[in-house]
Amino acid sequence: MSDTSASTPDHEPAAVDRGRTVHGEAANAGHRVLAPDDAEVEAYLEQALHAAPPQRVETEAAEQPDTVVVLDFGSQFAQLIARRVRELNVYSELLPHDTPMAELERRGTKAVILSGGPSSVYDDDAPRADPALWSGRIPVLGICYGLQLMAHELGGEVVPSKRREYGPATVSLTDGDLFAGIERVQPVWMSHGDSILRPPEGFHATAQTDSTPYAGLADPGRNLYGIQFHPEVVHTPIGREVLRNFVVDIAGVRPNWTAANLVDTTVAEIRERVGDGHVICALSGGVDSAVAATLVHRAIGDQLTCIYVDHGLMRKRESELLRVTFERDLGMRLVMVDARDRFLHRLTGVEDPEEKRRIIGDEFIRVFEEEATKLGQIDFLTQGTLYPDVIESKTSETKAAQKIKTHHNVGGLPADLRFQLIEPLRYLFKDEVRRVGLELGLPEAMVQRQPFPGPGLAIRIIGEVTAERLDTLREADWIVIDEIKAAGLYRSLWQSFAILTPVRSVGVMGDGRTYANVVAVRAVTSDDGMTADWARLPYEVLAKISSRIVNEVPGVNRVVYDISSKPPATIEWE
Ligand code: XMP
Repeated sequence: MSDTSASTPDHEPAAVDRGRTVHGEAANAGHRVLAPDDAEVEAYLEQALHAAPPQRVETEAAEQPDTVVVLDFGSQFAQLIARRVRELNVYSELLPHDTPMAELERRGTKAVILSGGPSSVYDDDAPRADPALWSGRIPVLGICYGLQLMAHELGGEVVPSKRREYGPATVSLTDGDLFAGIERVQPVWMSHGDSILRPPEGFHATAQTDSTPYAGLADPGRNLYGIQFHPEVVHTPIGREVLRNFVVDIAGVRPNWTAANLVDTTVAEIRERVGDGHVICALSGGVDSAVAATLVHRAIGDQLTCIYVDHGLMRKRESELLRVTFERDLGMRLVMVDARDRFLHRLTGVEDPEEKRRIIGDEFIRVFEEEATKLGQIDFLTQGTLYPDVIESKTSETKAAQKIKTHHNVGGLPADLRFQLIEPLRYLFKDEVRRVGLELGLPEAMVQRQPFPGPGLAIRIIGEVTAERLDTLREADWIVIDEIKAAGLYRSLWQSFAILTPVRSVGVMGDGRTYANVVAVRAVTSDDGMTADWARLPYEVLAKISSRIVNEVPGVNRVVYDISSKPPATIEWE
């Protein structure tokens, strides 16, 4: 793929010691919030991170699943390789390209995949791997740059090719276990500048394209394999088969990583780690904190107390759903704090979006801290950090910085509470978290929900937030979601919601003229919230939403639909 994003893990600043996770690894740097529905919790993490590193004894974790490590050579799709492997029910994680062999072995790695990357093997600072990797002790599959590096390091000849091959290509598969059961001629996706002119001794060609006789190489005796094309992208239809052949058949990895399995292992680890300690968790109403709390609860029951701060900026019935799910159905100890007046009071007269966020973040921490103090001795804080956050925090500061959004910084982090962190989701992608949530018996309505920003409805009311305006927006928002769900569109959309604009317009209702609020409706599709497109909602759905809002929500006489994409617009209006 277009490996333009140079990752420079070797130039990373030294990591600050921030404690250990359940897995005994360094805790997430957590300086930013990626999971949009758990902003408040993440803010608390930062606070915990400022505490002194915890003293802890390494514990014997429950049996770990077989692991495939993807070494990251800078391809922006390296993460995708790990995802594809996980789709085979095999646990996979992404580590820096120079991770020492000893570390790979310590982790019980059963196979290694070298990602692509933007470099040439001849670059001065070309990323390299531990040479012990070529020993054959662990099967290795090099992809693109990964293959070139392998060929170069083992004495083959790699040259810059005259034309860069980028895009679809046709490959002829000639040999090898890697392609077992696959038709010989296949469309694949290529992206490379350098080419292999002569393979290293012991290797033979396994695939060709028009532009290279060495689109695939293998030295089965040494357990070394390589392909020039990208199996991780959808444009390579046989990609999944190739990865499966390597991981399961060649490397003999057991596909035993399932949601059920993961729940068992994680629960055992948490139980062992916490002992008879006390844990708190801030529930935000989002998926991540919900799943994290449920995992911890399954492990240690009443030693966990969840705190839910009702800031009054939630959607309709949100608090109710939370209470029913966590307290009534799951039997958790839940402290619900009614802080609506406090938040509203502090938001009086505030119109600036960033100021709203700052105040909400700050007030949240205050309330949470007051409640935590009332609970007495607390040993751990659970929070729902996800794998993309972890990966991101390991990449270079500049790369991460490009993605930091000021509005994700909820700010205001006083006090020095001291707890260790439990991050039971730190190895999971969002969809995996959802699967675990279902496995744990959380209701669909909670697990499949669209992201909701930490500052809630406050940033969907343009201008000052008042109790009355909150009520208006809550009703309009409810109708949007209701109709989107009724049309069966809820899960296909990244987000769908209403915005209360400060604009008033003239209308006519019954016999009289009205001068009332304009509500905007926003619905977007997106993979990760970084870019988004406005959803082509069917006219009938839009019509229903519009007529219901105007008829059912007092003070609104006009509805408009937002047809801007991100970029240049953002998803939220503030
Ligand atoms: P934008 O509006 O920047 O939003 O396109 C991208 C994603 O982030 C969410 N978002 C937030 N989440 N605190 C959060 O927890 C915030 O302050 C915040 N602002 C935006 C937004 O809902 C979308 O999913």
